Amino acid sequence: MSDSDDDVPQLSDATLAALHEFYAESGRTALEQNSVKTDQFGAVEEDWRMSQFWYSEETAVRLAEEVMQQAGEHGRIACISAPSVYQKLKQMDSTRSDSVSAVLLEFDRRFAAYGDEFVFYDYNNPLCLPEDLLPQSFDIVIADPPYLSEECLSKVALTVKYLTKGKILLCTGAIMEKLAGKLMDLKMCSFLPKHNHNLANEFRCFVNYESSLLS
Ligand SMILES: C[S@@+](CC[C@H](N)C(=O)[O-])C[C@H]1O[C@@H](n2cnc3c(N)ncnc32)[C@H](O)[C@@H]1O
Repeated sequence: MSDSDDDVPQLSDATLAALHEFYAESGRTALEQNSVKTDQFGAVEEDWRMSQFWYSEETAVRLAEEVMQQAGEHGRIACISAPSVYQKLKQMDSTRSDSVSAVLLEFDRRFAAYGDEFVFYDYNNPLCLPEDLLPQSFDIVIADPPYLSEECLSKVALTVKYLTKGKILLCTGAIMEKLAGKLMDLKMCSFLPKHNHNLANEFRCFVNYESSLLS
């Protein structure tokens, strides 16, 4: 998951950008044509070219429950680069009366199948957002940046701080602890998020509010 991960082939920035564009576009088309059941968790396959590592079912449920509870009744939740939490929210919310609303900010256009709740997002342009995403308009923002780099986290932090009314839940590598504290005053949780495939790096959640994830 690291930019400099030796296991991942190294391509030039220009080649990577072209690849991303190609796969994002072809993925979107495939999803539209095949009408994949996007309300089903796990229907969109991981693509390492976009640094995609989906949470386990248990972790997605736990994080969705956490943001729902923290957002409160009819609260607004922004999921930045965390599509499986967004998908889980959609599944869980349909069975509840105190419904929340959620928006998914994502680079992978396959998730455009979610319609108005999908917002194309590239952390390289962290404040390039639609006009209707007003500042400080979300009760909680959850983010899982694609790379373990200072540049990536610093840029995602700009988006997070722009959108949140206050609460932040960040999921990233434990090695980002110091920077997460400096940028967003986040504390590392005891809760250990799990993925469908084991990651090489230790992975953690960070919050800036009182949470049962901390203990
Ligand atoms: C480490 S994964 C996090 C996914 C999360 N664990 C989940 O299960 O929902 C990183 C996410 O960042 C997205 N991503 C990739 N490139 C991006 C970019 N340039 N800007 C914003 N997000 C990007 C990927 O599509 C992926 O959803």
